[in-house]
Amino acid sequence: MDENHQLIEAAMEARKRARAPYSHFGVGAALLTKSGQIFKGCNIENVSLRLTLCAEEVAVGAAVAAGESEFMAVAVVAESEQPVLPCGGCRQLLAEFNPAMEVISSTLDGRTERHSLKDLLPRHNQGILEKSR
Ligand code: THU
Repeated sequence: MDENHQLIEAAMEARKRARAPYSHFGVGAALLTKSGQIFKGCNIENVSLRLTLCAEEVAVGAAVAAGESEFMAVAVVAESEQPVLPCGGCRQLLAEFNPAMEVISSTLDGRTERHSLKDLLPRHNQGILEKSR
């Protein structure tokens, strides 16, 4: 099994744990670290809706809490027509760690897209926290 396929499989496993009673749209994510470890996450919805955690956020939390923060790639899986790309907020979250990480999105039936995060979120931090002289 190649590394990308293993990452997609991990995201598919994670998706089975999704808590999505409102949208019924389960999402799984898996992050590959530089050290070769995989951290999984699933979406966790909340009745407020706006407090919902995306699968990518949960995967980042799991990795960082385990002391890992060098991410090479993320796989995202959902039962969608088209491969789901991370939402804008998650792009920004992921870019904090590696603005050029590989994003692999796959549907359950294997339609897969690969992108560099830098194409999905260019200039993720331009000017932020820079003060003018
Ligand atoms: N969702 C994710 O977990 N990751 C994505 O990349 C897209 C959206 C979740 C959030 C919410 O629970 C449901 O999918 C619908 O937006």
